[in-house]
Amino acid sequence: MYKIIKKTNIAKNLVEFVVEAKDIASNAYPGEFLIVKKDEKGERIPLTISDYDREKGTVTIVVQEVGLSTKKINALKEGEYFNDVVGPLGNASDLVTDFDEAKNENILFVAGGLGAAPVYPQVKYLVSKGIKPTCIIGSKSSDTIIYVDKFKELGVEVIVTTDDGSEGMKGPVTVAMKKLIEEDKRKFDRVVAIGSAVMMKFVCLLTKEYNIKTIVSMNTIMVDGTGMCGACRLSVGGQNKFACVDGPEFDGHLVDFDEVLKRQSMYKDEEARALLESEEKENGCGCSKKS
Ligand code: FES
Repeated sequence: MYKIIKKTNIAKNLVEFVVEAKDIASNAYPGEFLIVKKDEKGERIPLTISDYDREKGTVTIVVQEVGLSTKKINALKEGEYFNDVVGPLGNASDLVTDFDEAKNENILFVAGGLGAAPVYPQVKYLVSKGIKPTCIIGSKSSDTIIYVDKFKELGVEVIVTTDDGSEGMKGPVTVAMKKLIEEDKRKFDRVVAIGSAVMMKFVCLLTKEYNIKTIVSMNTIMVDGTGMCGACRLSVGGQNKFACVDGPEFDGHLVDFDEVLKRQSMYKDEEARALLESEEKENGCGCSKKS
């Protein structure tokens, strides 16, 4: 059992949990993920580690309510327990494993929505090594943007974008990227993009034009994180890969995003159906109500 030390509602449908998990915290690195289970029969949910504290023995995860299982998880309270937390899983970020290469680069992080959570430990890791990357954090609107203050506390340059202009620059993250690269003439050796598949696709299309190496994290397409369900299969440079086993990070210019988007919509429909069925059981479907 893994105790919830702290629970914070950080944005609409997004909850941050700090969980006591000593062994995981002492072995965790940026880029890796965990599998959590709310209760014995609960679904296995893979979640990227958004922070860890080796001294306190805690790991931090951010859960977005997208279906029935994540709705149940986000109803847990401080002091309650996850039945199971397994990890760390997947491979650590290239920035950790190839630090000798990364330390001499100008790095631009581009986070979309929930993607700011997995980007955070990578930026924190670099800052701890004396490197200050630039970060673009984008979301649909000000009520769904997360971690801006946490990034600012690290002392890095932070540019905020929202699709509706309610905070920061108006438009998608690519607008801020174009401004930095074209108007401000900034040079970047590497872009790390984490967010929805659509967002990463458009970041990669842009960085291809500028010929900037781009790493993407495909954690959003994982379903059970075991290498067994096949949900996270993707094509990278024409080869079949699994995000949970071979990734989650890949060379973004080699990922077939159109295939990823097609497969993702299939799984989303299943999650939405499960949530609807449960709500109908709880509330009745409304068809028998008289007006
Ligand atoms: Fe199921 Fe990777 S999430 S195979």
